[in-house]
Amino acid sequence: MALLSDSCFFVFFISLLLLGRRVHPEPTQDKQALLDFISLTPHANRPQWNSSASACSWVGVECDANQSHVVVLRLPGVGLVGPVPPNTLGRLSQLRVLSLRSNRLSGEIPADFSQLKLLHNLYLQHNLFSGEFPSSLTQLTRLTRLDLSFNNFTGKIPFSINNLTRLTGLFLENNNFSGSLPSINPAGLVNFNVSNNNLNGSIPDTLAKFQPDSFSGNPNLCGGPLSPCNPFFVSPAPSPTSNVSVVGKRSKKLSTGAIVAIAVGAGIILLLLLLLLLLCLRKRQRKENTAKPPKAAPRSVVTEAGTSSSKDDVAGGPAEAERNKLVFFEGGTYNFDLEDLLRASAEVLGKGSFGTSYKAILEEGTTVVVKRLKDVAVAKKEFEMQMEVLGKIKHEKVVPLRAFYYSKDEKLLVYDFMPSGSLSALLHGSRGSGRTPLDWDNRIKIALSAGRGLAHLHVSEKIVHGNIKASNILLRSDLEACLADFGLNPLFGSAVPPNRVAGYRAPEVVETRRVTFKSDVYSFGVLLLELLTGKAPNLASLGEEGIDLPRWVQSVVREEWTAEVFDVELMRYHNIEEEMVQLLQIAMACVSIVPAERPPIEQVVRMIEDMNRTETDDGLRQSSDDPSKGSDGHTPPRESRTTPPATP
Ligand SMILES: *[C@@H]1O[C@H](CO)[C@@H](O)[C@H](O)[C@H]1NC(C)=O
Ligand SMILES: *[C@@H]1O[C@H](CO)[C@@H](O)[C@H](O)[C@H]1NC(C)=O
Ligand SMILES: *[C@@H]1O[C@H](CO)[C@@H](O)[C@H](O)[C@H]1NC(C)=O
Ligand SMILES: *[C@@H]1O[C@H](CO)[C@@H](O)[C@H](O)[C@H]1NC(C)=O
Ligand SMILES: *[C@@H]1O[C@H](CO)[C@@H](O)[C@H](O)[C@H]1NC(C)=O
Ligand SMILES: *[C@@H]1O[C@H](CO)[C@@H](O)[C@H](O)[C@H]1NC(C)=O
Ligand SMILES: *[C@@H]1O[C@H](CO)[C@@H](O)[C@H](O)[C@H]1NC(C)=O
Ligand SMILES: *[C@@H]1O[C@H](CO)[C@@H](O)[C@H](O)[C@H]1NC(C)=O
Repeated sequence: MALLSDSCFFVFFISLLLLGRRVHPEPTQDKQALLDFISLTPHANRPQWNSSASACSWVGVECDANQSHVVVLRLPGVGLVGPVPPNTLGRLSQLRVLSLRSNRLSGEIPADFSQLKLLHNLYLQHNLFSGEFPSSLTQLTRLTRLDLSFNNFTGKIPFSINNLTRLTGLFLENNNFSGSLPSINPAGLVNFNVSNNNLNGSIPDTLAKFQPDSFSGNPNLCGGPLSPCNPFFVSPAPSPTSNVSVVGKRSKKLSTGAIVAIAVGAGIILLLLLLLLLLCLRKRQRKENTAKPPKAAPRSVVTEAGTSSSKDDVAGGPAEAERNKLVFFEGGTYNFDLEDLLRASAEVLGKGSFGTSYKAILEEGTTVVVKRLKDVAVAKKEFEMQMEVLGKIKHEKVVPLRAFYYSKDEKLLVYDFMPSGSLSALLHGSRGSGRTPLDWDNRIKIALSAGRGLAHLHVSEKIVHGNIKASNILLRSDLEACLADFGLNPLFGSAVPPNRVAGYRAPEVVETRRVTFKSDVYSFGVLLLELLTGKAPNLASLGEEGIDLPRWVQSVVREEWTAEVFDVELMRYHNIEEEMVQLLQIAMACVSIVPAERPPIEQVVRMIEDMNRTETDDGLRQSSDDPSKGSDGHTPPRESRTTPPATP
């Protein structure tokens, strides 16, 4: 007998199924689970399961070849009523197919469904199930077809559906799901339906391939195969200049193509320019390397400055040496001389466009920033004149220049040290590793204070900053911004391209090599985009190479997935969408390609000040007073359903 069943196993198995004969031990555990289920669930009299017979012979039940486990359970339209009792069906550990469709089952899907690890088909359509999307189901990673349609499910469709990577069919139609559609993206998904729910917002790119009747009956859903979304930018544009570029509703296809073409073209040109520049720099550097002693480690900057000054002594005599001193400006409280500076311990803060900055701790404890300029092109006279101008600038949003040193081989600038670091570090440093994200109010505060600093430079001092970027926005302990590294371009003539950091550089600067008020505004606009998107404006962080941050933002906005533009870290704050959009519009005006279309910085500041900040008059909300914002880290993000939506 055993021999027979081994050799003709398949035939035997088929005959077993057909005759319902019991030869092997029956699935006792699964049988008990089924009996528990059916005894606790009211039903019509169709599934008359004879408890004396094998469960494998029951209507709707199929077992594996060993008859040791139930693998299929189909009970469609058998008048099951009420909730699925917990700890019954969840015990069918080998179940592959479960169909309970067309009954009157209600309540939530029991959490123990998460134990049905091998389940690949689940049909629960046409019941009265309710509650949110069952989280137990997103753990069933083998699911290929999931049908929850025609029930009474509510709440959001969770992004964690993407856990179900093998899904080929997902049917959620005729429920009451709300919120926006997540980017559902299993590779093999071919059937998809969310019709007749209560979804809103735009259809994500990943789902745009499905036909309109996969989405119908959601009055507030738009984009993709449906009609285009109302421009997200509905509020009146604060900028008169950027009407087409941002909204981009008209001539959608064409302009996307054009953008790509322009981006590719610009990319090639930029590359060529960069190559040329590199070559030039190489040559220059070689020349200088032969003229100068080799550069040494940071600690020795200072010593080197010392030797060079002594060299000057030799070259220029005592009178020259007298003049090669640290020159302090009025208003500072520092009391040290070059010798002290030379003895200070130094640590590299950063290598910038114009040279390297060091944090220098003097012996008596004072900390200053020493910037060692390289490739200065102007003569001493012009240098001193520019220093005179910069040294006079006193504004709380501008890092004060305290002193300078000029000799033939060394040019040093001394600034106040800002212990809180730069915006770049705050925004991009140790992302995702449990740090406190920079919240929205503080981003606005930084944008506004940096803008005010820049407006002071432009309007009161008539000075072009020339090097606006996140690492030059230093922060005070209260997160007020303070501009560093301003007004140095005139020292370099046209030899050194201003603002070498691609990404912040206005397009016309590449050609003219001249920074202007307008190119500052452009860089400031990029900075605003950086605050909004959380992305550093260098090419690497944008994924699509050859596209700078403004163009990337434009392309994203154009494709109507506006929400994706914003920093994910901002998604935990509520009721800021409108403000984010307003700031985005301001930023887009600043990064207009045509310089004349960029608003002057003082107007930009006014627009930021005039933004419809909600809740308080001074424009800065107390994040800690508003529990819904989750800024204290206790409120989980995105769980806003339970809190009533704020009135607009
Ligand atoms: C239940 O099964 C047993 C054994 O197979 C059989 O003797 C009995 O008649 C069945 N009862 C009903 C109601 O079908
Ligand atoms: C049948 O049972 C044997 C041991 O009893 C097991 O090794 C085998 O995997 C089982 N086959 C199936 C299809 O469950
Ligand atoms: C995703 O699936 C894994 C098992 O592969 C599970 O441990 C995890 O909890 C699931 N995530 C969610 C959100 O359900
Ligand atoms: C659907 O659920 C809502 C509450 O979530 C309830 O008020 C309503 O009666 C349910 N509808 C049906 C048909 O069960
Ligand atoms: C859908 O849910 C909303 C609340 O989220 C409720 O007001 C509405 O009546 C529900 N619609 C249906 C058809 O159950
Ligand atoms: C979508 O609806 C939810 C409430 O269900 C609301 O909080 C959200 O603001 C809406 N989103 C859009 C874009 O209308
Ligand atoms: C989606 O479901 C709706 C409602 O049942 C139906 O009208 C529509 O044809 C379905 N779409 C697809 C693509 O199956
Ligand atoms: C948008 O700006 C262009 C010039 O850039 C102008 O010709 C056009 O009329 C403007 N459109 C609207 C709707 O203001």
